[in-house]
Amino acid sequence: MKKKILIISGGISKERKISLETGNQVSKELKKNGYKVKICEPNYNLTNIIKDFKPNCVFNALHGQFGEDGYIQSILENIGVPYTHSGIIASAQAMDKEISKKIFIKNKILTPKYIKYCFDKSKFELNKLIKKKLGFPVVIKPINEGSSVNVFICNSSNINNKLKILRIYKKILIEQFIPGREIQAAILGKNKLGAIELKPKRKFYDYKAKYNSKAKTEHIIPVNLTKKKYNELMSISLKAHNLLGCRGVTRSDFKYYNNKFYLLEINTQPGMTKLSLVPEISAYKGINFINLIKLILKDASTNK
Ligand SMILES: Nc1ncnc2c1ncn2[C@@H]1O[C@H](COP(=O)(O)OP(=O)(O)O)[C@@H](O)[C@H]1O
Ligand SMILES: [Mg+2]
Repeated sequence: MKKKILIISGGISKERKISLETGNQVSKELKKNGYKVKICEPNYNLTNIIKDFKPNCVFNALHGQFGEDGYIQSILENIGVPYTHSGIIASAQAMDKEISKKIFIKNKILTPKYIKYCFDKSKFELNKLIKKKLGFPVVIKPINEGSSVNVFICNSSNINNKLKILRIYKKILIEQFIPGREIQAAILGKNKLGAIELKPKRKFYDYKAKYNSKAKTEHIIPVNLTKKKYNELMSISLKAHNLLGCRGVTRSDFKYYNNKFYLLEINTQPGMTKLSLVPEISAYKGINFINLIKLILKDASTNK
């Protein structure tokens, strides 16, 4: 009998569009390879859809809030159906950049210095604190967003304007700006999948640099690192993946400066369109798109 896979994509996060693309492309590939596939949204109907369709596995193609942060995972856990990628706690910890940074620091993984800011200080006080603790420029970012949404590099003259945009969040991170190279590394299960370097033509690897083909970020694979440094990068990624209790595939985002890797974050639901970074890293290793999807499904089923 054909294996049945339910793909959940879309959702209400700011990364809805990318999630729908991931869902469609994974669906096409699975259908081409003999699977019975259904795609649905993470709405009130989800439980009934799962009961009726009886999937062998749920492929979680969601990104961002409610899809990558433990919420949908807790629903799927409750239903008792195998699902791809990380579970409740790992997802929640990885989605919260403050919590994950605390875990990295405690376990001696280098991450940019930061201040948590709750819009509770005067401009004057905040500027003083930044100068004392971080120094300008800084990067301001939401704690639980993705795709570089509302991430800004700021100096003392434009920080107040940019902070206004982030007022929609209760708390944000203000990080030390790390210059240097942009490198990302992927882990699948307990295996080091590989790494890629991104050379954005824009000021940094922002939303447009990630998704707008005209912004043309250069992808470099294999990454130009010595074997020793490459091994160090992959070991940090695997360590972070394990520390947070992740499963399935994850992608860790780094800045590489002065021979040091600074871990920015770990993504538990990395993009999975054919043009996304994890499929590109995987293809370089000789694992094509369908085989990558199959490995992710296998990981989900064996971890249940
Ligand atoms: N501390 C930092 N120093 C330099 N660049 C940063 C820093 N934090 C983020 N960036 C830039 O912003 C991008 C997005 O930041 P990241 O923390 O990975 O958030 P997101 O979850 O939105 O991807 C990074 O890939 C990098 O280009
Ligand atoms: Mg990132």
